[in-house]
Amino acid sequence: MSEKERKLEELRKECLKCDKCSLCNTRTNIVFSDGNCDAKILLIGEAPGADEDETGTPFVGRAGKYLTQLIEESGLSRKNDFYIANTIKCRPPKNRVPSDEEKNLCEKYLLKQIEIVKPKVIVLCGATSAKSFLGDKIKITQIRGNWYKILDNIDATVILHPSFLLRKHSEEEGSARWLTRQDILKIKQFISKV
Ligand code: URA
Repeated sequence: MSEKERKLEELRKECLKCDKCSLCNTRTNIVFSDGNCDAKILLIGEAPGADEDETGTPFVGRAGKYLTQLIEESGLSRKNDFYIANTIKCRPPKNRVPSDEEKNLCEKYLLKQIEIVKPKVIVLCGATSAKSFLGDKIKITQIRGNWYKILDNIDATVILHPSFLLRKHSEEEGSARWLTRQDILKIKQFISKV
């Protein structure tokens, strides 16, 4: 086990004991991460859904499968090129959007994960994740594809959430799905240079 893996495992164990908010009463599993902790890309989604709560792994349900498809279509590998986490580690009942309190209480775990993984780029996937780092006023459809510096000068970009894309069926040039494919290709291009 590498030093990074050891530190992440220590943090995961801390999360397993977490009872800071009421989601600890309804969770089946903590959903800590998936993928490669040495990857250049750290993707942050919203929160675990039912399938993630059941398995303890992020993005394994319908939206996750679609995200994986988009990643693999770009020529990137979900397993090797991504480390995946969420803004909060426990499933909100009925998949509601996490509250500010839940996000604030869980933030220290995510920030620690970022500090340990040291990604070259952070991908903010969906509005909840983007708002956590860029402020509540953002409009996801207006800022997707933009690049920012967040935290300690880490490059970050925004993509639309796969659950949103599953409700938008058009594949035409300029559609939400088409734009997301372009956004992922830009991320691929970016990591080939860093
Ligand atoms: N949606 C998310 O934002 N994260 C998951 O892990 C699953 C669905």
